[in-house]
Amino acid sequence: MADAPHPFSPLTPDEIRAAAALARTADGADGCRFIAIGLDEADKEAYHAWVDAGGPRPARRARASVYDAARQVREITVDLDAGSVVADRLFPNAYPPITPDEYVAVEASVKADPKMIAALAARGIDDMGAVQIDVLASANMGHPLDGRHRYARAVPYLRGPLGMNSYARPIESLLALVDLDTHEILAIEEYDTKPIPAADGEYRTGTLPARTGVKPIAITQPEGVSFTVDGNRVRWFDWEFSASLEAQDGLVLHDVRFRGRRVLHRASCAEMIVPYGDPHPMHNWRTYFDAGEYGLGACTNSLVLGCDCVGEITYLDAHLAAGDGDVVEIANAICLHEEDHSLLWKHTDHATGNVESRRARRFVVNSMATVGNYDYAFRWNFGLDGHIELEVELHGIISTMAHTEGEDLKGTQLVDEGLSGPHHQHLFCFRLDLDVDGPRNTVCEIEAEPVPTGPDNPEGNAWRSKTTVLRTESEAARDANDHLARQWYVGNPHERSVAGAPRSYRIVPMHGVTPLLARPEATIYRRAGFGRHTLWVTPYRPDERNAAGTYPYGRVDQDGLPEWTAADRGIEDTDIVCWYTAGVTHFVRPEDWPIMPAARTGFRLEPAGFFDRNPTLDWPASEAACCHRDG
Ligand code: CO
Repeated sequence: MADAPHPFSPLTPDEIRAAAALARTADGADGCRFIAIGLDEADKEAYHAWVDAGGPRPARRARASVYDAARQVREITVDLDAGSVVADRLFPNAYPPITPDEYVAVEASVKADPKMIAALAARGIDDMGAVQIDVLASANMGHPLDGRHRYARAVPYLRGPLGMNSYARPIESLLALVDLDTHEILAIEEYDTKPIPAADGEYRTGTLPARTGVKPIAITQPEGVSFTVDGNRVRWFDWEFSASLEAQDGLVLHDVRFRGRRVLHRASCAEMIVPYGDPHPMHNWRTYFDAGEYGLGACTNSLVLGCDCVGEITYLDAHLAAGDGDVVEIANAICLHEEDHSLLWKHTDHATGNVESRRARRFVVNSMATVGNYDYAFRWNFGLDGHIELEVELHGIISTMAHTEGEDLKGTQLVDEGLSGPHHQHLFCFRLDLDVDGPRNTVCEIEAEPVPTGPDNPEGNAWRSKTTVLRTESEAARDANDHLARQWYVGNPHERSVAGAPRSYRIVPMHGVTPLLARPEATIYRRAGFGRHTLWVTPYRPDERNAAGTYPYGRVDQDGLPEWTAADRGIEDTDIVCWYTAGVTHFVRPEDWPIMPAARTGFRLEPAGFFDRNPTLDWPASEAACCHRDG
């Protein structure tokens, strides 16, 4: 089978349809709705036996996540080669995420509800066509409906004339609780009525006369690009990896190697949450799990050349499953390109006058998801020197609330007339299955340690790097500390660098890291326990995929990092997974209205003793004379 797909190639449309048909043959699954259908990844050892040792190609398997007629969530694994069901796992008490067809059905149901119509009429709104309904995850805060219904909180906004930004006009203190399965209105809740703000939310083309004098910047690669793409397998100089899109995790990388050496087996966003800081009952339940309750892949945009990406771009399309098991294509779901990235290295030898300067470029793998009012770009940037930088770029429109003059702003910022935005966090937990030079790795924490002033340190200038081996899961629940430049080295203790230390990559925090700010009493503290720490390390378990459990919708009793790590398993010299939470603690500011300028967060993976010296000495000087000059 010369044209058989790489084991980490995502399912083709035909494979998705075949998987759906096979999954329906499982007991009680014939009438199921599909939550997702994706690749069931090859066992790690079997994959390496194939890729590294020429062993048999792993079986092509798919995993169908289904919501069956008994309203149970199940994962049905099928062998596509054999045409059989190989596993059928039940997830008790789990609810599936909200799906796009449910937004539409719930909005229609809310707009037809007599009590909602009457409540809106009491606020002077008769035209239901001018109302926007946001269908939002219910959370679970002990409401009588929790655990009895899979429901959403539907929140109205007044969409002004000609498609104006409706977040300028929240219809405060009115919401509908709607069963997502039946679209039945379960309750209408009303609080203290506030005037609908008269804010100006317009930002579209034509809002202001466009600025003139903007000269074009053209990015061209007249001799073509320096990378190749074979299916979803990408090769760019020393790097090689697979990139694909999954319904829940969004952009996923597999088997990332540098010069053939293993770095990462898999990297993905394992959950992201947006908990809000205002205590009002219209807002205190807003704790969206954008991966587990909405789906980062399901919400992925089709990227557009010239707008979302410029230059010589290669796009990968993605194929996901619709509820009926048919295929949803997201064209241009992943963008691949190289870009100039300032300097790689440079030195002027002041004694000889010799100048050596090398221009850097980086390789960018990018996808973008729109989840409600926010848009997130996920970028994995690969460097020539072996580093990988994960960058999340945040775009969109802040969540808004009406504000009455003189009212205590509490955890919000006034942004326009009668309009404020609650402060909030965006926490992104990345699952990093690092296999640095092989699967057996040990994680060490390195931080700066000032030496006490005394006979050994008379000047008081001395400090050292302090290394602490993290031996168990409890030891490895760690927080970032910029004051001590804390970082984490993940290395193979059986392979040593020139410095005698394990061949390692290190995880370096960027942009500051603030853990979850909600109190331990808050339900979000339990539901998104991963947010309590920057780093967690677990022994590799293929089933431990999502930091707050795979099906967090409306749940309190879920699994996730705090539950798994309570066993305090050993993590030394074994196959480990690191979980790193980056984030933005968003103090809303006036400049974030009516549309926010991009905000960024992320982290870096850097080789640290993975090589014995700078691995880019062979990088050529560019044509410009200034890049190499003998003194
Ligand atoms: Co924000």
